[in-house]
Amino acid sequence: MAGSNKFDVAGGEVKYDRNSELKAFDETKLGVKGLADSGIPKVPRIFIHPPQSLLQFPTAAATAGDDTRFVFPTIDLTGSHQDPSRRREIVDQVRQASESWGFFQVINHGIPTSVLNQMLDGVHRFYNQDEEDRKKLYTRDVKKSFGYNTNFDLYTSTAAQWRDTFYCNMAPVPPKPEDLPHVCRDIMVEYSDHVMKLGLDVFELMSESLGLSRNHLKDMDCAEGITILGHYYPGCPEPDLTIGAPKHEDSDFFTVLLQDHMGGLQVLHKGHWVNVPPNPQALVINIGDLLQLITNDKFKSVEHRVVANKLGPRVSVASFFTTGFIPTEKIYEPIKELLSEEEPAKYRPTTVRDYATFYKAKGLDGTSALLHFRI
Ligand code: OGA
Ligand code: NI
Repeated sequence: MAGSNKFDVAGGEVKYDRNSELKAFDETKLGVKGLADSGIPKVPRIFIHPPQSLLQFPTAAATAGDDTRFVFPTIDLTGSHQDPSRRREIVDQVRQASESWGFFQVINHGIPTSVLNQMLDGVHRFYNQDEEDRKKLYTRDVKKSFGYNTNFDLYTSTAAQWRDTFYCNMAPVPPKPEDLPHVCRDIMVEYSDHVMKLGLDVFELMSESLGLSRNHLKDMDCAEGITILGHYYPGCPEPDLTIGAPKHEDSDFFTVLLQDHMGGLQVLHKGHWVNVPPNPQALVINIGDLLQLITNDKFKSVEHRVVANKLGPRVSVASFFTTGFIPTEKIYEPIKELLSEEEPAKYRPTTVRDYATFYKAKGLDGTSALLHFRI
């Protein structure tokens, strides 16, 4: 794989046999980590993104202190179960953040920091295991309960991402223990139990913040499924030419994201990329497309990305509340209680599987899958 640019000096696109380079990369089964481990000095051209797609929006100044517009929301969950007036404050903060940012981070969420750290360690162990063992788990079959690959949309995207990912469906059908790699088996089960509990708490807070009864979103089975992704973003020799994760929205109800101390996650807010500050005690919550759909745009599924970095690796664990590709009949549509004559339904009904299937086929091309479901 040559390291030459996809663009010549005049900015014109250089023709090359992209497909065979993608295939050669795929067949290594070692992902981007394999390239980084080989000490590759340049980013291969399959990863090079057109500069205009990376520079579309400015990054908000790192010291957002002076500009309160760009202070990423942090919500302290202390007292949410004990103190009704504190709970009202929290519900209000959840509403504000979900309406304006589509993102917030929670602290004092009840998951011990030791569990968070062990989960991140488990991701490192997965990627650092013997190459031959890692290769055996490489697959693009989403029906498997556990699998690992690089770039789920490798053959359809215009430029590849500088990251590898393992996926595991934890609920509603838990994986058989033997389907999970032993290097992270126990912690994945423990972590996902914690995430389910936290998720149920957050669905309650969100229901209340929409003026619905506490159990409304839970009773709609929004918390039925969890898929966990373990991302690995290797250090990159030319981080300005590529991206860890391109601009996208998530396809689920919401995502609980655990990131390590490296940083790189950015959320698009008021036309600026805002850094989501790494905090080892916090978990990031972001609204996904399905929650925007059923709240009829009250809550926003907001674009985010992960920039590539010279230093690495960075690891993160994204827990998606969704039943994904599991065949289910349940129809999701804008919640009746949120509709009125002035606020008619903006989306047509869909199943989670139809939504997930459309989203995956479209890939992370910078456009929103929600548009396809708009009335
Ligand atoms: C995702 C995602 C961000 C991260 O998995 O959808 O946006 O920091 N991950 O890895
Ligand atoms: Ni995402």
